Amino acid sequence: MRIGILTGGGDCPGLNAVIRAVVRKATASGDEVVGFRDGWRGLLQDDAVPLDLAAVRGLLPRGGTVLGTSRTNPFALEGGPERVLGCLAAHGIDALVPVGGEDTLGVAARLTSSGVRVVGVPKTIDNDLDGTDYTFGFDTAVGVAMEAIDRLHTTSDSHHRTLVVEVMGRHAGWIALHAGMAGGANVVLVPERPFDVDAVVAHCLHRFESGYSPIVVVSEGARPADGELVTSTGQTDAFGHVRLGGIGAALAAVLEERTGRESRAVVLGHVQRGGTPSAFDRVLATRFGLAAVDAVHAGLSGVMVALRGTDVVPVPIAEA
Ligand code: F6P
Repeated sequence: MRIGILTGGGDCPGLNAVIRAVVRKATASGDEVVGFRDGWRGLLQDDAVPLDLAAVRGLLPRGGTVLGTSRTNPFALEGGPERVLGCLAAHGIDALVPVGGEDTLGVAARLTSSGVRVVGVPKTIDNDLDGTDYTFGFDTAVGVAMEAIDRLHTTSDSHHRTLVVEVMGRHAGWIALHAGMAGGANVVLVPERPFDVDAVVAHCLHRFESGYSPIVVVSEGARPADGELVTSTGQTDAFGHVRLGGIGAALAAVLEERTGRESRAVVLGHVQRGGTPSAFDRVLATRFGLAAVDAVHAGLSGVMVALRGTDVVPVPIAEA
């Protein structure tokens, strides 16, 4: 059979491990694999590449995705779904394995009603997809943020300043929480719980009084309960994406003013998404890729592979 694969949405450490596992397992079973470049764009513009064993050699430690990615949504374009269906037919694709987050898997779920056999693989460094206990990429991102926090402790103590570390997480505070706990941050602010600026100021002052300097970890999507901090949130870039961020700088300015101590903001940004995946992410991504091919062979569709406890199992995409 012929299996199509694409990677969509923000890139994530472990994507190449999924591609490698799918190709190796499928090839061993006598299947062929076709990769579509830059997410759904590859299916809209018939941008495809055959993937064999040589194409995936040496991919385990590589960050990003060799297939490229985009946030293109065929359902937002006139005639988009029809072009996708035409391209799948032209390549004789029997089953499609889209690897992505909410948006990519949402498109996949809609395509199943047009008769496309789809087995999705969940992906996001934010770890905010329902249906799976963990997504690959999260462990790597937490490791990067933790290392940054470790380093920031020594420089903040040396200068007797507050350091505010802004980490990724539009809607979910998992990265902030795990990296903050692992790195011994004094304050962790997450989008799920609007924070009280007075309480943050009090924590920082208490830390200074104990002879140490505070480290505050804040998710990019975290906001104060009374909305008093001005950030760049809501600005739209040239591609129409709404920008988040700016909370770190805004909070650092307020803390400097209210504590009377110097304050600096560090925005970790895309460094959390780049580079080589951790061992945990390589293993999880590999297991997801292998399970996706198993699900294709079992004739499943409209499902994604998911980690439940220690098992990788197929679950309805709608659960994500
Ligand atoms: O979904 C993962 C994520 O890393 C978010 O935490 C972040 O807001 C977003 O992607 C930024 O992605 P980009 O800069 O590619 O639009």
